[in-house]
This record gives sequence, C-alpha cells and structure tokens, in this order.
Amino acid sequence: MKFSLTPAILASAAFVQGFTFDRLNKSDAALLVVDHQIGLSQLVRDYSVVEFRNSILAHAALGKVFDLPTILTTSADTGPNGALPKEIIEMHPEAPFIHRQGEVVDAWDNPDFRAAVKATGKKQIILAGIVTEVCTSFLALSLIEEGYDVWANTDASGTFNDKLAADANRRMEQAGVHLMGVFGIAMDLMRDWRNTPGAAEVLPYLDVYLPQYSLVARAHGYAVDNGTLIPGEAQLL
Ligand SMILES: *[C@@H]1O[C@H](CO)[C@@H](O)[C@H](O)[C@H]1NC(C)=O
Ligand SMILES: *[C@@H]1O[C@H](CO)[C@@H](O)[C@H](O)[C@H]1NC(C)=O
Repeated sequence: MKFSLTPAILASAAFVQGFTFDRLNKSDAALLVVDHQIGLSQLVRDYSVVEFRNSILAHAALGKVFDLPTILTTSADTGPNGALPKEIIEMHPEAPFIHRQGEVVDAWDNPDFRAAVKATGKKQIILAGIVTEVCTSFLALSLIEEGYDVWANTDASGTFNDKLAADANRRMEQAGVHLMGVFGIAMDLMRDWRNTPGAAEVLPYLDVYLPQYSLVARAHGYAVDNGTLIPGEAQLL
C-alpha cells in the first residue's frame, strides 16, 4: 500500500498535533457521480424514492453551481442496473462519462475512470453512489489509499437499509473519509455568502434542492417586501 500523509491522516493525529480543520475548496475539488442509475436506485431503502431522487440531482447540480470538474460513471447501464437519469446527463453534457459495462465493481479499477480523475488535477474528491457499501465506499477507500482527500455525500448515497449505511459510513470514516450531506458540502464549497458563487447563486440552488432552507428565505423575502405585523407579533420581537 502506498503511504502518503493526506490531510485526513494528519487530522486523525489531531490529539498529538493540534486539530486541522480539513475544508473543501472549490478550486481544489472534483465531483464524482457513481452509479446513480435508475435500476440500482430501486435497491435504495434508507431514503424515500422522492427524497433520494432529489438528492442525486442535488449532488450532480453541485458540479454546475460550483463549476467543479465532474465525472459520470455507470455499471452495466445497458443491463439490469439501468440508465443514469437523463437530467444528470443533460446537466453535464461535456463531462467524461465512463460506462463500466459488465466489468469492475470499484470504479477505481477501471483505467479510463482513474485517468479521468487524475486528469482533473484536483486533490479533493466529492462523491456519492449506489449502493453505499459498494459503489461509494469501495471508490472512497481506493481514493484515500491513493492520497486523495475524500468527501462522501451521505444524502446521495443509498443502500438496502439503515444498518448497512451505518456500517459503510463507519468504515469510510475510519479511513478518514469525510461524511457530509448536500447542505454541508454546499456551505463548505461556498464558504462565504458574499462569494461568487454565494447567496445569489446558492439560494436558487437551495430553492430547488433544499426547500427547507429556501422556505426560510422566501418567508423572510415576502415579509420584507410586503409584510405587516399582526396583533401579538410585535411583542415576539
Ligand atoms: C483554495 O485553493 C486555492 C488554490 O488551490 C487558493 O489560492 C485559495 O486561497 C484557496 N481558498 C481558500 C478559501 O482556502
Ligand atoms: C401586499 O399586502 C396587501 C395587504 O396588506 C395586499 O393587498 C397586496 O395584494 C399585497 N401585495 C403583494 C404584491 O403581495
């Protein structure tokens, strides 16, 4: 095994060295969409169908909002695992798209995929896949071994049940993979609401993919635009 001092390994030595907060940087990051296929998505039972479809679209859209080099890959997409949703392909028409047709399970074992990741020149990798303990974690662990700093998007990785998700996440975490959802990843990539992309680009993204947050913004916006306090409200302020 190749050994290099990745930020994750350095961070795990925090108790001796002092803690280093390993942060995403949109200039250093690439996005991997791994086997988010229509057939495979039927295996996902740790999220509802609607929630998970939203999360895989949100994952792919991170590449658009933050202008990240994005790589798509599928496994047996003319076979049982099915196509990648057309929305994802349409979002990334120029992205390298590696079809693993009845061959390696771990995308890292495919030379074209490895070459595409290396060609990005990025050291931080954000990935998500179906299923969590196979497509996400095999690739995440391979990337860590190779010296990359890895973020697994846990909203957009799904599997048969919660226990398997917990097992896979624990295994990745022990190897130094950062586990975060769409909101955490988006906020770390943005860093500051005044940046570009910042509030102007990220709020519309959240409005589509994370309405929990955009409802807060919409309510505030409407109130500022044309709101009045009703009896009883003033005393709450
Ligand atoms: C991100 O990385 C670039 C170069 O890779 C660097 O110039 C920049 O300062 C970094 N940004 C932050 C917020 O750390
Ligand atoms: C603003 O609020 C008033 C009532 O307070 C309402 O009559 C009006 O239609 C509202 N305008 C808009 C643009 O929502």
